[in-house]
Amino acid sequence: MALKASAQGLEIVDKARKKKGWTKTVTVAWWQDALTTQATLRRFWRGIPIQSESFINICQVVGISNWEDILDCSTDEELEVSDISAQEDWGEAPEMAAFYGRTEELNHLHEWIINDKCRLVSLLGMGGIGKTALSVMLADKIQNEFDYVIWRSLRYCSSVPDLLTQLIKFFSNKQVTELSNNSGNAVSQLLDYMKSHRCLVILDGAEAILNSGEMSESYKEGYESFGELIKRVGKERHQSCILLTSREQLNEIALIEEETPQVRSLLLSDINNAAAWQLFQSKGLSDENCWQHLLKIYRGNPLVLNIISSYIKKYFVGKVGDFLKLETIFIGDIQLILDTSWQRLSSLQKELMFQLATEPSSLVKLKLNSSVSTSDIMAALQSLERRSLIQRQLEGNDIIYTLQPIVKKYVKKRAN
Ligand SMILES: Nc1ncnc2c1ncn2[C@@H]1O[C@H](COP(=O)(O)OP(=O)(O)OP(=O)(O)O)[C@@H](O)[C@H]1O
Ligand SMILES: [Mg+2]
Repeated sequence: MALKASAQGLEIVDKARKKKGWTKTVTVAWWQDALTTQATLRRFWRGIPIQSESFINICQVVGISNWEDILDCSTDEELEVSDISAQEDWGEAPEMAAFYGRTEELNHLHEWIINDKCRLVSLLGMGGIGKTALSVMLADKIQNEFDYVIWRSLRYCSSVPDLLTQLIKFFSNKQVTELSNNSGNAVSQLLDYMKSHRCLVILDGAEAILNSGEMSESYKEGYESFGELIKRVGKERHQSCILLTSREQLNEIALIEEETPQVRSLLLSDINNAAAWQLFQSKGLSDENCWQHLLKIYRGNPLVLNIISSYIKKYFVGKVGDFLKLETIFIGDIQLILDTSWQRLSSLQKELMFQLATEPSSLVKLKLNSSVSTSDIMAALQSLERRSLIQRQLEGNDIIYTLQPIVKKYVKKRAN
């Protein structure tokens, strides 16, 4: 037998899950303890019929014993379980075991996409800062506001036509399988669906389709028309949204967001102290009085904090004080994150990083040590700042550029 939830029932469930501090579909314990799958829990939230045992378990695990109160009894017909939800495709979206903080960012994105009806939002920040994780949490939160939700990693799409085919096939419920050879027409086809339905499209990891180094402004082969697609989605009228995550801002977005209120970007920075504390706790670290110091060196990049916490747990039995006594900055696997950022820098950006690793400097000082024009240096600094590789701070009347301790150590290693 299959059961489905009513709108009022879902409100009760929403209150119960908030009380427990759970997300709608990302909290693994919920669907695992209910002996069901994440996909079934998603169908439950959409009011789609699911197996009665799963329905009852989902209610009971969240603390609702009167599962009958959640039922939609508006029809006497026997319901049938639908195997797949035609309206959702979570592609390669990762399962999240833990997620701390980011409340403010989630609220911002919710307001932009739901209240302000933004058509294009880019989520920016360095590797490991949590763009993908935040995009999954956001989609979890707002999925019911959309007719269709599709999540795609750009790392696994071979070209713009491949991406467009996947999107159009999905929005047309597989009715359309071939699209126009003309890329402009294919984008128009996509926009027709984005006009007639409310679709949320999450495109993760846009840096994967950009060339690196000196050519970082251009798209890789097969993706040349991506800029055009983005421009049209940002500028034309429709009721859908593309959320794009990227380590680097796309030129088209930087240009149109100046003049289009429905196109916005959010640069993710460190997670706050409270979230970092939760992360350290979950990793089993001790010596809480030393955590602030640890955070000062490694900052709030969740991937970096995960790596360093695991290292301290493994080699220092979790004692942060003992680790800090060594007075060394440990790079280890963190190097991999910085390597990928480094490979993408132009030679001028690398030169500036070397200078800043030697001493924090102002723009004027950097210019004195370089034969390149001031405007090129300014552009390079802006791009480094957008990638969270350098910071700006006010010292007296001067703006000084600095590197975080871990980045400084990395750059010094590269200089040797
Ligand atoms: N707020 C958070 N709380 C706990 N863990 C987090 C949080 N944000 C991210 N993480 C974890 O940190 C790691 C890196 O996050 P994520 O993959 O989202 O980074 P990213 O910015 O997408 O990096 P990349 O640019 O490499 O794609 C993941 O293991 C993720 O689960
Ligand atoms: Mg990512």
